[in-house]
Amino acid sequence: MAAAEKQAVTGAGPFNGLLTWIDQRFPLMQTWRSHLSEYYAPKNFNFWYYFGSLALFVLVIQIVTGIFLTMNYKPDAAQAFASVEYIMREVPWGWWIRYMHSTGASFFFICVYLHMFRAMLYGSYRNPRELLWIFGMLIFLCLMAEAFFGYLLPWGQMSYWGAQVIVNLFDAIPVIGPDLAIWIRGDFVVSDATLNRFFAYHVIAVPLALLALVVAHLLALHEVGSSNPDGVEIKNVKDPKTGRPLDGIPFHPYYTVKDTFGVVVFLVVFSMVVFFAPDAGGYFLEHNNFIPADPLKTPAHIAPVWYFTPYYSILRATTDEFVLWVLAPGVVAFALLLIWSMKKSATRIAVGVIAIVLLAGLLSLDAKVWGVVLMATSVMIFFFLPWLDRSPVRSIRYKGPITKTALSLFVIVFFVLGYLGTESVTEGRTLAAQVGTAVYFLFFFLMPWYSKMDKCLPEPERVTSK
Ligand code: HEM
Repeated sequence: MAAAEKQAVTGAGPFNGLLTWIDQRFPLMQTWRSHLSEYYAPKNFNFWYYFGSLALFVLVIQIVTGIFLTMNYKPDAAQAFASVEYIMREVPWGWWIRYMHSTGASFFFICVYLHMFRAMLYGSYRNPRELLWIFGMLIFLCLMAEAFFGYLLPWGQMSYWGAQVIVNLFDAIPVIGPDLAIWIRGDFVVSDATLNRFFAYHVIAVPLALLALVVAHLLALHEVGSSNPDGVEIKNVKDPKTGRPLDGIPFHPYYTVKDTFGVVVFLVVFSMVVFFAPDAGGYFLEHNNFIPADPLKTPAHIAPVWYFTPYYSILRATTDEFVLWVLAPGVVAFALLLIWSMKKSATRIAVGVIAIVLLAGLLSLDAKVWGVVLMATSVMIFFFLPWLDRSPVRSIRYKGPITKTALSLFVIVFFVLGYLGTESVTEGRTLAAQVGTAVYFLFFFLMPWYSKMDKCLPEPERVTSK
């Protein structure tokens, strides 16, 4: 573009000269326009659409506070606990930085869980947003890894024993398990070598991956455009003259203002926790973690932080009886359902063979192995949501009673499993976790059928202003 033309594009203003100078060398205004001032987002975003920008905001908080923590933290088994105490007591404002980081971790998960729930409510993962969803899920996996590695760093009792329990799970993998666990730890037990490598993952490897994935997530979002609470595509109805979506409004200033309001409310709630209840009664910072790690003294009750407890409950629910009386019959029933609904005989035979192999594994391998498999599946299954949901409509507003009941049950079960994972094991709690685990998986495995047969309302052509 000629220099004179570029000058005209940037428009008048006090910084016009500077902007023109930059624009002739870098696509600043073009990026601003295509991603903000002329990026059209649906006009009917509601409460649930705050959590994407809030997740981005928490990511910034975590990176900035993390940099300052690293300035005084020592990744050394002999000094780590004391260096955190030093940050809390001696470093000016160190306690504030540390509590923002530890509270930020929990708030990150709160934002991301609500953000994912929004996608489940409005079917945001459906065609053409599958890749956006997959990037989101990869972000979620990185976030879990980031939180897990970070939790070892204060070198408290829970840091130590939590890492010990989780890394020991890899031991259960047949053949390669024991060597894999040693390779992850860098030692036969969690030790200084483990702390060093977890520090490297926590401060550089995973944050880099996380940032790259967030960029990919947002690029994918801007390629296909946002969905909305009605689940209709605003790109389908455009002004014939301007070519702009009739149900869209420019992201800036409309949604930059809305998201700024979200950030202000978020900061009020976040500050209340940081200043008045940074441990959140033991849910954000566990009481046992204020005791230095002692490899010779196992705590009576080991539980991960709240955001991992639903999956931890699924792991603990997988007892020998559960494998025999629920999983094995479940595999048979599901295989029969698949065979009944499939037309090609080759796929039917394949399903039959897979089911027989699975059954043989269920009846011969230790329940601990299946606990690990179920726990991993409980997270990975979210990847497949775009293909499991066969409903003719996207949004919960137009879905039928079966889907609404299934989603409500799933949410209840997610909370119940989350709660049970924080508590010690009793017979009653194990039974409740087993029922919860069954409902959790039925929600996903039966979705292709119930989402298709449910009685849906007709989807509107244009967004409604609810
Ligand atoms: C660091 C974490 C994340 C950040 C910063 C982030 C950021 C965003 C932003 C800013 C938006 C647009 C605004 C909005 O719709 O709220 C968005 C949309 C979306 N995100 Fe994320 N996200 C993150 C994690 C995730 C995860 C874990 C998932 C799912 C597994 C996910 C799935 C989606 C989907 C499906 C949309 C499109 C929503 C729609 O168009 O209706 N995101 N994300």
